[in-house]
Amino acid sequence: MRPWHSALALALLCLPRAHAQVTVYGLNGAQQPLVDGTAGASQSTAAPAVAYTAVPAYNNVQLQAPPVPQPPPPTQFAVGVQQSAADVVGLSIQQQGGFYGFSIEFSVVNQVVGINATFINVAFLNLMAIVAQRAGRVVIRVGGNSQETATLVDSLPDGKAIEKDKANTTNPTQTPTLIFTPEILYMMANVSSLLPVKWYLGIPFNDTTNLRLGIAEAGEAILGDNLLGFQLGNEPDLYATHKARALTYSQQDYFNEFGTVVQAIANDAQIPTRNNLVAPSVNSGPWSPESVWDTGFVGAYSGALGALAVEHYPNDNCAAAFPDAGFGPPQDPQTVFPNYLNHTSGISVIAPYLNSTAFAQQNGKPFLMFETNTASCGGFPGISDAFGAALWAVDFGMQMAYSNFSGALLHVGGEDDTYNPFTPPPTNMSNVYQWTIGPVFYSAVVLAEAFGTSGSAQIVDLQANGDNIYTPGYAIYEQGQLSKVALFNYVTDNTGASTYTASIGFNGGTVPQQVSVKYLLAPSVAEKTNITWAGQTLSGVFQSDGRFRGDESIQTVQCDQTGGTCNIQVPAPGFALVFLTSGALAEVEPTSTATFSTTALTKTVNTATVDQSVLATSNGHSGVDRGQLDSTSKGSNAAAAGLVPGACTLAAAVLAGMLAVGITAQT
Ligand SMILES: *[C@@H]1O[C@H](CO)[C@@H](O)[C@H](O)[C@H]1NC(C)=O
Ligand SMILES: *[C@@H]1O[C@H](CO)[C@@H](O)[C@H](O)[C@H]1NC(C)=O
Ligand SMILES: *[C@@H]1O[C@H](CO)[C@@H](O)[C@H](O)[C@H]1NC(C)=O
Ligand SMILES: *[C@@H]1O[C@H](CO)[C@@H](O)[C@H](O)[C@H]1NC(C)=O
Ligand SMILES: *[C@@H]1O[C@H](CO)[C@@H](O)[C@H](O)[C@H]1NC(C)=O
Ligand SMILES: *[C@@H]1O[C@H](CO)[C@@H](O)[C@H](O)[C@H]1NC(C)=O
Ligand SMILES: *[C@@H]1O[C@H](CO)[C@@H](O)[C@H](O)[C@H]1NC(C)=O
Ligand SMILES: *[C@@H]1O[C@H](CO)[C@@H](O)[C@H](O)[C@H]1NC(C)=O
Ligand SMILES: *[C@@H]1O[C@H](CO)[C@@H](O)[C@H](O)[C@H]1NC(C)=O
Repeated sequence: MRPWHSALALALLCLPRAHAQVTVYGLNGAQQPLVDGTAGASQSTAAPAVAYTAVPAYNNVQLQAPPVPQPPPPTQFAVGVQQSAADVVGLSIQQQGGFYGFSIEFSVVNQVVGINATFINVAFLNLMAIVAQRAGRVVIRVGGNSQETATLVDSLPDGKAIEKDKANTTNPTQTPTLIFTPEILYMMANVSSLLPVKWYLGIPFNDTTNLRLGIAEAGEAILGDNLLGFQLGNEPDLYATHKARALTYSQQDYFNEFGTVVQAIANDAQIPTRNNLVAPSVNSGPWSPESVWDTGFVGAYSGALGALAVEHYPNDNCAAAFPDAGFGPPQDPQTVFPNYLNHTSGISVIAPYLNSTAFAQQNGKPFLMFETNTASCGGFPGISDAFGAALWAVDFGMQMAYSNFSGALLHVGGEDDTYNPFTPPPTNMSNVYQWTIGPVFYSAVVLAEAFGTSGSAQIVDLQANGDNIYTPGYAIYEQGQLSKVALFNYVTDNTGASTYTASIGFNGGTVPQQVSVKYLLAPSVAEKTNITWAGQTLSGVFQSDGRFRGDESIQTVQCDQTGGTCNIQVPAPGFALVFLTSGALAEVEPTSTATFSTTALTKTVNTATVDQSVLATSNGHSGVDRGQLDSTSKGSNAAAAGLVPGACTLAAAVLAGMLAVGITAQT
């Protein structure tokens, strides 16, 4: 049993089981047929999505994969790896589990995480459980542009936990002004009582003459050890362009304002922890990180700083997202696509930070990529939500780790964004639709497995295949010993001619008898739904309850003892994570799966196990009995394991360390 199966989880489990009614609404309030999205691991989009294709998160833009590069990368090559970390030049610092976390824009926290502390989204919990099982923890930042003007109040007149007012928007990303209650913080605390989720928050920085430190006071009291720290200033180098400060706003101005808040925190008895601030979080467009270091920032505030951070997206789609804002002509996604499909991409994004990761080490601070994704201003439809983005984000994440970043947070915006690792269904359709999981979520899962739970993972870029930009590779060490090899193939070629074989050879160690391989696969880098990790999928617009579907498939490869190599095939496109020891695989292979099959507490309708085919056949009926759904839901572990009846049976199952944990809705 995992530590996060807490008493609260068990208490939730013992609630009476619901027999909720699911009413199937079509679009525009009319009852319409929901065309069969047929159950199964890798099915295409359910038909109702057509009406949502104008919404970026559910767009159906389908790009072409770039042609096979000329000359094509060699398809047979040797990869030499050292057995001992001590023999590796340029190995990274040690990485904790869960290198990729998530950055949830404050204004959508009530859509993504839950409505309040007793209404937490089950799909969200399931997704976090996937990462937590593999990484031992999940880091989530709730913040972004919307943190700057957010205000904590005791309560809101309508009883809600958060309210937004878009009318008061002044910046080009149209960030709403937020008012929220401590309930939001309790919601996070309740999530952390179910799963090992650790949080970053942001202290509003729009007005340092009239500080609002409430979030720090309440945050520390409510979240305790589950709070990692507070960001102070979100992309201060964009304040001038966002009209949040005067056009002359400088690094020195930021330095001074930061000092004001540090002093205020020091004077605030309700903020006992004073060494956990995250800064300067420059977008590093207008200001380089060095230009902030040059003010003496880190020396001056060393005692207050928990981590140094930057935020950066490799490109932006602002011209298309905000046509009237003067961004110039929109970029053509098809033209931009190849920029994400080679090893140079991640390297070039990170190059400007190499000085800073070294500087952070010298100053004893972790260096974080506090917010990133494929492209700002919503990402590119057809790129940000296609398989190429999954490969890109795995490579980018590994390159950041190799470059001595200590973590990176993939941004989750709203339905106006195409890059979301996960998007909840439109609020008014949450009884019918499920979640939409983006390709970069798979990347977070892959990194979780690549770095495991030991906290000792170190990574090196192998410059594989003569440093061919289409076939990069990395080696990962744990406890000072070789543990895994990661191999990429960015080429799309369905003839099979671009599938390569990497012959891993071992320097200073014995050749394993056999190794285990998990693949991240899709038929093309442009593929939007048929994406699998070790044979399992989360994909499909409106298709996911946050649990992998399908059977896990781990390949076993016998090594060539005579030749002294393990020969690993990597399809085009594809990614392979090679586990060189059984211990490396066991460390991240979930033995018990904490899944949450219905909304945690108050919700009476079980959306999480609703199967699209059941909904389709139920059309014309006013409702569907929950029991039927359970019995037909292929995604339901609880049903599959025969654990459905009686919530307390489930509690017993948890105690027995069995496969599924169900949380049953309260009637
Ligand atoms: C849900 O909201 C969408 C977008 O605002 C709207 O088009 C649709 O008609 C709504 N559906 C229902 C059932 O209210
Ligand atoms: C939490 O949200 C649910 C769903 O909107 C609502 O029914 C419930 O009353 C809320 N609970 C509190 C304590 O506000
Ligand atoms: C900062 O944000 C708060 C809350 O939205 C607002 O009341 C205040 O006027 C803002 N201050 C400045 C200087 O913009
Ligand atoms: C938004 O601006 C209006 C008009 O200035 C004001 O009445 C309202 O209180 C503001 N709302 C918020 C949330 O700041
Ligand atoms: C869960 O939220 C409630 C508020 O609804 C709060 O009273 C309780 O302390 C929270 N539980 C935890 C473990 O933080
Ligand atoms: C590889 O990616 C880089 C960086 O994104 C880009 O500038 C370059 O054009 C790409 N190379 C090819 C051959 O597509
Ligand atoms: C890194 O620092 C060196 C020396 O301080 C400087 O010459 C160089 O321009 C910096 N590199 C970047 C990418 O900023
Ligand atoms: C990362 O840090 C290690 C340990 O300090 C160092 O040896 C290595 O060169 C660094 N890597 C990069 C890319 O800066
Ligand atoms: C999904 O992609 C895999 C390759 O990753 C392919 O073998 C399979 O046939 C595809 N399935 C469908 C339904 O397209």
